[in-house]
Amino acid sequence: MKVALAGDHGGFRLKEQVACFFRENGIEYNDFGTFSEDPVDYPDIALKVAEAVRNGDFDRGVICCGTGIGVAITANKVPGIRASQCHDTFSARAAREHNNANVLTLGERVIGFGLAREIVRVWLEAEFQGGRHAPRVDKISLIEQKYNSCSR
Ligand code: RB5
Repeated sequence: MKVALAGDHGGFRLKEQVACFFRENGIEYNDFGTFSEDPVDYPDIALKVAEAVRNGDFDRGVICCGTGIGVAITANKVPGIRASQCHDTFSARAAREHNNANVLTLGERVIGFGLAREIVRVWLEAEFQGGRHAPRVDKISLIEQKYNSCSR
């Protein structure tokens, strides 16, 4: 599994922690930045990961910011992206099993590094269950198609 990773200045230190977790666990990843705590705009950071997953270059994405909110809102604008902010392991598992989330977002100003690492582990290990959840996720794609066709 290949994971696209990024964070803005508000999520920089957490992004570095997630990168450590990936290295410790032999998980292939690419760090799309940012590479310091100098201010950047979170939509620019989130778009890099969302497009990398959308294009099929990466299987999953993890994006960090101060809250995990701005990057989730941004990533979810990219068709095919199902980004979920998860700050507990129950939600992390459900985001995969029920919603087939392909991007996880985390807020450095909300949770500690230890919990964040555990959330990432649970989220990476959990698989989409399909079944009754599949037609619901399909409906999300139909909504994307409806509004994409309106803009043409
Ligand atoms: C940056 O100050 C902060 O707004 C950003 O990291 C994020 O929390 C936005 O949703």
